Amino acid sequence: MKMQFPVEAFANIETPFYYYDVELLKATLDTVKREAAKYEGFHVHYAIKANFNPRLLEIISNAGIGADCVSGGEVRAALNAGVPADKVVFAGVGKTDKEIALSLDAGIFCFNVESVPEIEAIECLAAERGVVAQIAIRVNPNVGAHTHSNITTGLAENKFGVNYEQLDEVIDVVETMPHIKLIGLHFHIGSQLLVMDDFIALCCRINELQELLHEGRGMVLPHINVGGGLGIRYDFPDKYPIPDFEAYFATYANNLKLFPG
Ligand SMILES: Cc1ncc(COP(=O)(O)O)c(C=O)c1O
Repeated sequence: MKMQFPVEAFANIETPFYYYDVELLKATLDTVKREAAKYEGFHVHYAIKANFNPRLLEIISNAGIGADCVSGGEVRAALNAGVPADKVVFAGVGKTDKEIALSLDAGIFCFNVESVPEIEAIECLAAERGVVAQIAIRVNPNVGAHTHSNITTGLAENKFGVNYEQLDEVIDVVETMPHIKLIGLHFHIGSQLLVMDDFIALCCRINELQELLHEGRGMVLPHINVGGGLGIRYDFPDKYPIPDFEAYFATYANNLKLFPG
């Protein structure tokens, strides 16, 4: 696809400014939707942290993509752009009471929880409102990724998620909480990922954990949330303006073993 870069039009614009190629964004969204639709059950969410420009969010929301948020401000930006609350998920290690409360009041789909104290805070705020909060436990899979060492998120040394060896204990706690409904597991191994083997390694860990939960507790969780997304080819950005979503979705479809439902 030909990139649009109208240098002449920039001559009279005050600097600095951001220039977004909306046609490329739309072509990217079309590719994502087409490739995801080849398989059953994929839901794509856009990480609002990448860019929360309201006009871009509206285009992304109109394409039917959900939102992956890491702050109350991002939850609000997603809702303002028209993302339905049932397509909003909220991760992050430092959720404040105010952010949790606004997300409960908006009725977001799921909190991707990172610790037991956070689950306790959500339980308390949900109880005050007489609602049940849906959660997915963010598990630190201890899976490395071929990216810059400062943007890996899924190694034991990273601050994110609960240790996968402690998952069982955390579920025991969740099961005592009447205003929390566990609906899934969440994993994120890093940003700017380009090597499919990283996703395969994650799938292997998830398969193992699902098997353990099934054998140990008879538990099958209906939502498996995975990240990061595909990175930008900074070496050849013009040659590969759209990431290889065909390989991305095929990798998950071929390697993630999902239980029925
Ligand atoms: C929960 C969560 N979602 C999304 C992202 C962004 O991921 P990516 O850059 O792969 O889109 C991150 C990055 O750390 C994250 O932790």
